[in-house]
Amino acid sequence: MGVSFWEDPYPVYKRFQERSAIFWDEALDVWVVTGRNAVDTVLRSPAMSSDWRRLNIDESASQEFPELERMLHGWFMLMDPPAHTLLRRTMQSWFSRSRAESLAEDFQSVVSAHLDRVRTLPTVDLAKDFASPVASGLLARVLDVPVEVTVEAAEHVAAIASFLAQPHKREFAAKAADAVDRLNTLYRRLAPSLSRNSALFPLVNDSALPPDAYLHTAHLLSFAGQETTAGLIGTGLLHLLRRPNLYKEVAAGQADLAAVVEELVRFDTPVPQVPRVALSDVTVDGHTIRAGDRVLVLLAAANRDWQNSEDADVLDFARDQKNIAFGVGIHYCLGAPIARKGALIAIRDWTTTFPETLLSPETVQWSVGTGYRGLESALVQLV
Ligand code: HEM
Repeated sequence: MGVSFWEDPYPVYKRFQERSAIFWDEALDVWVVTGRNAVDTVLRSPAMSSDWRRLNIDESASQEFPELERMLHGWFMLMDPPAHTLLRRTMQSWFSRSRAESLAEDFQSVVSAHLDRVRTLPTVDLAKDFASPVASGLLARVLDVPVEVTVEAAEHVAAIASFLAQPHKREFAAKAADAVDRLNTLYRRLAPSLSRNSALFPLVNDSALPPDAYLHTAHLLSFAGQETTAGLIGTGLLHLLRRPNLYKEVAAGQADLAAVVEELVRFDTPVPQVPRVALSDVTVDGHTIRAGDRVLVLLAAANRDWQNSEDADVLDFARDQKNIAFGVGIHYCLGAPIARKGALIAIRDWTTTFPETLLSPETVQWSVGTGYRGLESALVQLV
């Protein structure tokens, strides 16, 4: 894929959706699902598996690295019921909406500290100096660990993300396996002193759970919570900066911030796609997905929903929308209330603190080959 795809993948997604809500891609050997209703059907179907052992195609290089395989088998995001249900239920009560509310003050202090730091910098990178460290800071509050832990974990999970995006490449698998070793060391050291406030606390010393549930879920949360939240904050601010009128509206406190966050997560979806594999035949939109077929579910395409919306490519806070950026069905994002709250505070406080920010458009670089949608770098001037 050329660089231009990573800068703006939406024309490609649109062509896919124009072709069909669901189609078989010969080259990729996968069903591609682009239509809003088709995505919904696939993600709600009990015949669609998220199990890593089934998703993991034979030629995956990870089979050479047992610790990497064991860790991915241990992520409940990559499990089916009943194994998935047990772990998700254990975590669910911690990740309530009221938890996001009770963390709001903590999140605010994380964001304020970064804004104070940004003020002192000679050049400011929206991604490296704000979105990414803020996401690590928010995650540190969720796990109730020192921020150094989530900053270090972010480096390691980046290697795992690159491997998951290209699982056939041996060098990526080797780097991911090394990252798993380092994450194991990091989180093993923390276990004895883990606070009761940590999202990971329910996993420690629960004999009903699989061995290493704590360790594997620590890795999963580090993976699922970092690039995604950084992506929403960074790309969200970028899209506002590209539209000075909207930026001013938000900075002046004239916009409904919850609606702003929803529209930003719809407009540029931080997790553009999720994989599945069929356990039995499933008919979707008149097409029969056969047992064993792999399926690529394009949340980003479904969120633009060109087939049912004439202005899908317009950023409009007043849009009546229900996006699926956080997924659908049993794997719906556990961290959604946290991510929404964190992004809202970060976007609100950045815009009100720096109402005159100017983007240097030529410096914008998008992440390439990670499976996430996010900014690598974007310089801004705080005038
Ligand atoms: C803007 C930020 C975020 C976005 C867009 C996002 C998106 C998603 C999506 C699309 C899924 C579904 C995956 C699937 O169906 O295969 C998911 C699952 C998940 N997310 Fe998030 N996420 C975000 C932030 C977070 C945060 C902050 C956390 C935790 C700290 C988190 C934890 C999880 C977990 C544990 C799952 C697996 C749920 C399950 O399998 O039952 N996410 N996320």
